Amino acid sequence: MPLANSLTKAFNQTLFTIACEPPIRLLARWILRRVKAPLPVKSFWDAADYPQYLFGVLKAAQFARAQGLTRIAVAEMGCAGGRGLLAMARHAQDLARHFGIDIRVYGFDAGTGLPTFCGDYRDHPDAWKAGDFPMDVDRLRQALPANTQLVIGNVEDTVAPFLRDELDCPLGFVAFDLDLYSSTRAALRIVEQLGERDLLRVPLYFDDLGYDWSHRRAGEPLAIEEFNRENDAIIIEQWLHASAARPFHEAPWLKRFFLAHNLAKISKSQLVGEANRVHDLAY
Ligand SMILES: C[S@@+](CC[C@H](N)C(=O)[O-])C[C@H]1O[C@@H](n2cnc3c(N)ncnc32)[C@H](O)[C@@H]1O
Repeated sequence: MPLANSLTKAFNQTLFTIACEPPIRLLARWILRRVKAPLPVKSFWDAADYPQYLFGVLKAAQFARAQGLTRIAVAEMGCAGGRGLLAMARHAQDLARHFGIDIRVYGFDAGTGLPTFCGDYRDHPDAWKAGDFPMDVDRLRQALPANTQLVIGNVEDTVAPFLRDELDCPLGFVAFDLDLYSSTRAALRIVEQLGERDLLRVPLYFDDLGYDWSHRRAGEPLAIEEFNRENDAIIIEQWLHASAARPFHEAPWLKRFFLAHNLAKISKSQLVGEANRVHDLAY
């Protein structure tokens, strides 16, 4: 029996390795986009619209399950026309069903496009201008499913009341797509409040990294750096392992994934059970 098991494992591993080879991996993804398959498998193969949002919500759901949580919230900061938010809402609905948990979705946006800039290079006036990416609020609201809510207004003004009056469960995943340093800095306050009831680590996606005009003294990189300088209880770091053993490991969106590590909660954690062993990676 151990021999049969080893052979089956080796066969599966070989099949998997072949399937991951270009161009076969393209065929595998093409097929997976068209057939019914478990969501973790679809996510693993990037076989979905907005694969970065499927990955973020999936990881949030898996982290929540591991901590015994049955309800989480995920958010997109900066929604414009709503394509990303609608994809996030769909993925959340499907994953909620898959994992048997409740996933609330929130979309934050000014509604009127990019707000007034901070006045210097930090908001990248070389890449955007005020008023870019307006939203048709009523139209988007009508298109959203019941699990999703818009929070309209400048994030400078909406995040604090949202945390105080609306958010009643742990935050699972946040996607930042606000373009501006000043907006991202204000929106990152949503992460500052992570505490005892929350996840040990929260996946964060930053859409505006790595363009030819990007650098550390402006935009999202500067907002992240300042957040880390000003917060002792949370640290935001790039999730280098996010791409590990994935068939499309070079997908650019994987480099835009970070984790907010909840340091106070990690200090109090204690693992129990058998000794950890080196194990094979599996999805
Ligand atoms: C690039 S668009 C978002 C695109 C969207 N995520 C998608 O996938 O289609 C940027 C959005 O951020 C919003 N935004 C930027 N700064 C903001 C702020 N301070 N408060 C609220 N919304 C803001 C703008 O209104 C704009 O709609």
